[in-house]
Amino acid sequence: MEAFKKEVEDRIAANPKDEKLSKSAAEFMVASTVPKYSYNFEWQGRPIIQYPQDMVAMQELIWEIKPDLIIETGIAHGGSLIFSASMLAQLDMCDAIEDGSTIDPSKSKRKVLGVDIDIRAHNKEAILKHPMASRIEMIQGSSIDQNIISQVHDFAKDYSKILVCLDSNHTHDHVLAELEAYAPLTSVDSYCVVFDTIVEDLPGDMFPNRPWGPGDNPKTAVWEYLKTHAEFEIDEAIHNKLLITVAPDGFLKRVK
Ligand SMILES: C[S@@+](CC[C@H](N)C(=O)[O-])C[C@H]1O[C@@H](n2cnc3c(N)ncnc32)[C@H](O)[C@@H]1O
Repeated sequence: MEAFKKEVEDRIAANPKDEKLSKSAAEFMVASTVPKYSYNFEWQGRPIIQYPQDMVAMQELIWEIKPDLIIETGIAHGGSLIFSASMLAQLDMCDAIEDGSTIDPSKSKRKVLGVDIDIRAHNKEAILKHPMASRIEMIQGSSIDQNIISQVHDFAKDYSKILVCLDSNHTHDHVLAELEAYAPLTSVDSYCVVFDTIVEDLPGDMFPNRPWGPGDNPKTAVWEYLKTHAEFEIDEAIHNKLLITVAPDGFLKRVK
């Protein structure tokens, strides 16, 4: 097993030097953005705006960290909330198997807390009707509004292993403000995942109707945040493994 792990690590470390592989992955990211590839998937019946590779990476992180709280900015149709809740449900199931107890979802402490400036009524209804709903809490408002930040911090007080995912407005200033507000809630050895850092690597004319683009996006916010926050490091092994990801430089590990 150790030998197998080492082989995988070596392969991942070699990926960035593999020009053919890196180039074709980069080309795929450009070509797949135009036809809105990330909008084609569902998690347990809810649309999730993610690339499947990133979902697998999140599954690996959640299994490794075993968080009791996942904080997400950007709910949209609720797919990522349902995804996180379903992973937490599996952690509860594993705990129950280990200690021979039964699972009562209404008593599960593990929760996903989602924040969105506009939780559409039909999305909210579908999320609340979903079997994973008991593990989900939602707050409506801008993620950088001081009142919303206080509500999230207040909610987080009762939790000890926290994973943070930022996927709302993708401008530099907004993501930097989200990082200042929520990254400190990330537990040591857990992650703050910043989605759509890929915008920095895509052609400038791809976002004509958006306020973000190369030079003004989640990746530039991550770079600026890290200048003054040595407690976080970019986990390069994750994006080097995925190659196809919307979060290059976006998997931030809290190291102290
Ligand atoms: C890319 S979608 C989120 C996708 C979702 N995480 C998923 O994986 O399916 C972005 C969401 O961010 C929300 N949003 C935009 N500006 C926001 C803000 N200032 N505060 C909180 N949410 C915001 C939008 O309403 C939208 O639902």
